[in-house]
Amino acid sequence: MSAAPSSKHEYSIACMPADGIGPEVIGAGVEVLKTMSEASGGAFKFHFEDYDWSSETYKKLGKYIPDGGLERLKKHDAIFFGAVGAPDVPDHISLWGLRLAICQPLQQYANVRPTKILRGTESPLRKAKTGDLDWVIIRENSEGEYAGQGGRSHQGQPWETSTEVSIFTRHCVERLMRFAFEIAQKRARKRITVVTKSNAQRNGMVMWDEIAAHVAKEFPDVEMDKMLVDAMTCRMVLQPNSIDTIVATNLHADILSDLAAALAGSIGIAPTSNLDPTRQHPSMFEPIHGSAFDITGNGVANPIGTFWTAAEMLRWLGEETAADKLMECIEEVCGNGILTRDLGGTAGTKEVTEAVCEAVRKSYGSSK
Ligand code: NAI
Ligand code: MG
Repeated sequence: MSAAPSSKHEYSIACMPADGIGPEVIGAGVEVLKTMSEASGGAFKFHFEDYDWSSETYKKLGKYIPDGGLERLKKHDAIFFGAVGAPDVPDHISLWGLRLAICQPLQQYANVRPTKILRGTESPLRKAKTGDLDWVIIRENSEGEYAGQGGRSHQGQPWETSTEVSIFTRHCVERLMRFAFEIAQKRARKRITVVTKSNAQRNGMVMWDEIAAHVAKEFPDVEMDKMLVDAMTCRMVLQPNSIDTIVATNLHADILSDLAAALAGSIGIAPTSNLDPTRQHPSMFEPIHGSAFDITGNGVANPIGTFWTAAEMLRWLGEETAADKLMECIEEVCGNGILTRDLGGTAGTKEVTEAVCEAVRKSYGSSK
């Protein structure tokens, strides 16, 4: 059973860096979290337990998660995850073997993806600046287009047939919708955009629209509007300021959140939380990006996405003040121009990490 927030200030964290740049960025994230704990004089503490589950262990043992592994994971308060994916393992094997094999049984049904333009970074949108783009995307994380339903027959024949069936259940859509409205209600602008494709997809997506209208009645102070997913991509580019909270299906939100990350400057800064809002199981926190084989081992991976992820994890655990402090330190370092290559800078992973650790120490008044 995972901790209720802020009851004990001592947290057991499963660290699972997995593949590619995962170990580099998770290593940096753990360093920052340890620095925060120390600088705060032990106001909160972490017990990190390392898990080596990865494509390497899959290649050796034929599975990503060893027998009984999920039961071990359940005893932690949170999971700090890097990225899974290797050049010599098909992506659908790695994704279903590790990430989805954790998210689905642990009922992490809400995927939360905040995006904003950090101070000192630039959006590719010509006119957008810090403050013009400040969104949170809530992604359905348990079913929909990624429910794993379907099949293939007559493989290799000209008449080969495959189906990929989307599953939408009232139970799962309604719980996610309510969670998304709660998030929107807590944000300053109290505005939510429900994204579907209910013109072309006339069954599941129409049910989404109906459920949204039904749940909206419970939140009279939240202003709701609806968009088709294709039109939403235009609005994100052309009127970023008109958007606050977005709720969408597993597939639609997956795509929109990569667009969101790019519009904010780089995929290297964006965080994700895979939440079990019931808190029955530990939630899992990870940067949005993948294992980035093209830059693995070069020391240039941007750790900011992982630091922001760490801040989201702190917030979920109930350490709100520490989360705010960490975000402030991240923005201070970016604002001072200490940026990795993907953001147009020249700093490496190590320099950015050291700068954030120093900012953390300063912010707690324990600078060396
Ligand atoms: P990717 O996110 O790994 O890389 C896309 C591009 O962004 C690359 O040019 C990469 O160098 C750059 N990039 C990513 N993170 C960065 C960072 N922190 N700093 C600087 N640059 C960064 O996506 P891609 O190439 O589509 O996938 C690579 C592998 O990762 C595949 O096996 C894929 O399945 C897996 N993947 C895993 C995810 C996860 O574990 N949640 C999410 C996305 C992809
Ligand atoms: Mg994605």
